[in-house]
Amino acid sequence: MTDNDTLRERIAGELSAARDRTTYLTTAVDEADLVRQHSPLMSPLVWDLAHVANQEELWLLREVGGLTPIHPEIDPLYDAFEHPRSKRPTLPLLAPGEARGYGHEVRGRVMDLLEKTRFNGTKLTDGGFAFGMIAQHEQQHDETMLATHQLRTGPPVLSAPPPPPAPADAAVLPAEVFVPGGPFTMGTSTEPWALDNERPAHVVDVPPFYLDTTPVTNAAYAAFITDGGYDDPRWWTADGWAHRQRAGLEAPLFWRWEGEWVRVSFGVALPIIPNEPVLHVSWYEADAYARWAGRRLPTEAEWEKAARHDPVTGRSMRYPWGDFDPTPEVANVGQRHLRPALAGSYPAGAAPSGARQLIGDVWEWTSSDFLPYPGFVAWPYREYSEVFFGPEYKVLRGGAFSVSPVACRGTFRNWDYPVRRQIFAGFRTARSGALETA
Ligand code: AVJ
Ligand code: FE
Repeated sequence: MTDNDTLRERIAGELSAARDRTTYLTTAVDEADLVRQHSPLMSPLVWDLAHVANQEELWLLREVGGLTPIHPEIDPLYDAFEHPRSKRPTLPLLAPGEARGYGHEVRGRVMDLLEKTRFNGTKLTDGGFAFGMIAQHEQQHDETMLATHQLRTGPPVLSAPPPPPAPADAAVLPAEVFVPGGPFTMGTSTEPWALDNERPAHVVDVPPFYLDTTPVTNAAYAAFITDGGYDDPRWWTADGWAHRQRAGLEAPLFWRWEGEWVRVSFGVALPIIPNEPVLHVSWYEADAYARWAGRRLPTEAEWEKAARHDPVTGRSMRYPWGDFDPTPEVANVGQRHLRPALAGSYPAGAAPSGARQLIGDVWEWTSSDFLPYPGFVAWPYREYSEVFFGPEYKVLRGGAFSVSPVACRGTFRNWDYPVRRQIFAGFRTARSGALETA
């Protein structure tokens, strides 16, 4: 097989994995549920279904293939910037059957195009980038659709997969790991399917710090609640406190008090597992917890150094465990489980620093605003990252159980408003300081 054939096979595999997941998430509910809006924060699922097909048509069939538009008149309906999510249910959207048919038609033509593509003609096709971008885009919307499922009320519809494997040695893990100060390479210039905001690679000098070995657990977070953390403005930023008051926050989203706390997960009320990472907290809550604990959120550079820097070689690896793609032994990703694994799981996925679960389980809020790296170039479109840069958005790292391996790397940057908590987000805490010896 030529290199081109190998790449073609990889692309075909990623495209069909994304479509299988889309199909699963959009056939688990009936047609009425597909067109309904489950939360003003989300699109109806049928919008995502046609939007992924429309983006695939725009980037692969029209840009790469130079083909004539199939349905140019629907482009504005599926342009994320024309209509906010809350208004999408009122648009004359394609009906579920039409949306599926459109997706099927686009995908058939994309597979023909893939056969003819050489991957070295233009920057857009180098290394299969445009195809990789579209597989990631569909998987990102699959994760968004999974969040819509989580917001949906009514009986459960997603099949309950087995829980993730329990950690063997979690009890003896140190609470925090030490990351020595010094430069490391942040971002990438070589990862073929990295998106524009992950580029270019650049050296950042990070002072020494300590980082939680695992994400903050439900038990630790519950101690913050019990200690009155939600009622003490000392722990909150001014904006955070104003939001906490206005929104009436008193526990993570989807927690319910029934004499004890339970959490509702995809329509099922579950006991709160003490040693499971806390999920569905806003940046404001994560930041307040950290202050209460006498700590702070890590910066994005600290997070990435703890996740990628190999002190032996001085290189930055693709993942905490090395350069190979995630496997079930190293990380909880890919919606194999519908929940995070217990804190301390995946020893085989630990970083050289000793930190665990940096990839998978829960997205991790960082203290950093979403900003471009030095030398950033918007590509191939400004509306992926550039229009979001600024202090209104905070960066999240590492992906959750809900993220696809194709859309998750040590360099991957996600972002959202600090009030958001329907995303699969938790956090871990840090503190500055040189190595303390006993
Ligand atoms: C990277 C998750 C913030 O969903 O808004 C999907 C990804 N961009 N379609 C989003 C995205 C365009 C994006 N996030
Ligand atoms: Fe999109």
